[in-house]
Amino acid sequence: MSGEPYIASEDSALLRGALAAYSGDSCLEIGAGNGGNLLELAKRFRTVVGTDLVRPSMTDWRRDTNFVLTDRAACLRGSCFDLVAFNPPYLDGDETGDVAVEGGRPLEAPKAFLSEAFRAVNSGGKVVFLVNDGTDVEELRAACEERGFALRLLDSRRIFFEVLSVYEAAKRSEG
Ligand SMILES: C[S@@+](CC[C@H](N)C(=O)[O-])C[C@H]1O[C@@H](n2cnc3c(N)ncnc32)[C@H](O)[C@@H]1O
Repeated sequence: MSGEPYIASEDSALLRGALAAYSGDSCLEIGAGNGGNLLELAKRFRTVVGTDLVRPSMTDWRRDTNFVLTDRAACLRGSCFDLVAFNPPYLDGDETGDVAVEGGRPLEAPKAFLSEAFRAVNSGGKVVFLVNDGTDVEELRAACEERGFALRLLDSRRIFFEVLSVYEAAKRSEG
């Protein structure tokens, strides 16, 4: 496994732009990389937590946010966050061992991150995530529906050879 932190890129910026519309008490970013999105979230959330397998090389997040080295959100209690965000490793495969970009079998990382986000988010909370156009969004939508969440597209942009999209999963209102 590579120990190199993910350097924020166009995908990070697209997710960060979408996250600017959210506020609340507590939020979590699973796979927070170098912590840049956490700083954005700290402007509108009181408690901000990021997790990753890799230690960040930047330190500016330390002032206002918390960073935990853990597998997804394994060490955190469930149902505590108003917002859970993620931008999972977006390439299929595990040939280089670089967990920042390689997510194993097709959909393995997005589905595992999504399932952990559903565990971590509180009952009125939302999940916001970024995927590329190689991702079977209908399969993710089905996983959302199964948990009582509706999926909607927030933003989408072509960047070089791929289209990146940000989605929000929000609990369906009863009745
Ligand atoms: C595409 S990068 C996104 C980084 C950051 N969120 C951003 O938007 O710039 C995916 C991140 O997920 C992390 N990651 C991969 N597998 C993980 C796991 N099982 N638990 C926690 N983080 C993981 C990687 O180390 C990497 O920092």
